[in-house]
Amino acid sequence: LKFVCVSNDGNDQHMIWLIGLKNIFARQLPNMPKEYIVRLVMDRGHKSVMVVRRNTVVGGITYRPYVSQRFGEIAFCAITSDEQVKGYGTRLMNHLKQHARDVDGLTHFLTYADNNAVGYFNKQGFTKDIFLEKERWHGYIKDYDGGILMECKIDPKLPYTD
Ligand code: ACO
Repeated sequence: LKFVCVSNDGNDQHMIWLIGLKNIFARQLPNMPKEYIVRLVMDRGHKSVMVVRRNTVVGGITYRPYVSQRFGEIAFCAITSDEQVKGYGTRLMNHLKQHARDVDGLTHFLTYADNNAVGYFNKQGFTKDIFLEKERWHGYIKDYDGGILMECKIDPKLPYTD
């Protein structure tokens, strides 16, 4: 089992993984238009942290780092159906936080969580209260009807992975 962070950089293996992740999102997020999922997963400004087992993608999180604003927006998050509730979603989020802090220099995440995923995001340290100053995110992320805006502060020192 491994955790990788890739973007659409022309590497064949990265492209194969991103297509696998796109297919998981399309199945697990049925309310999202498939073209929108493909566009963001393949967008060079987005990154995806993925769980890969026996070279097969089990799930992942696609996010956009706003490096100048030091926050990231999580666009999609899913684990394939037969592997849910085994702890992968938690480990994935921990790898995301570690990477975002240590590689991108981010301090916070924002996401529009689906109603049924609020419980999962709560357990990952996200709150419905937004503490990040509005100047830092206003105009960068757009309002979206289908979810609840949630925020997570990344601990500056905590080792999130072993
Ligand atoms: N509601 C409430 N609690 C949840 C949910 C949920 N939907 N999903 C998981 N949890 C809980 C688990 O019970 C567990 O609690 P515990 O630590 O007390 O045992 C904890 O959250 C972590 O569980 P994991 O096993 O790590 O989570 P999992 O691997 O199942 O991944 C995920 C969670 C990503 C939400 C997965 O269930 C999934 O893909 N769901 C369908 C797609 C989805 O809803 N994605 C999020 C949409 S919002 C967005 O993408 C921005």
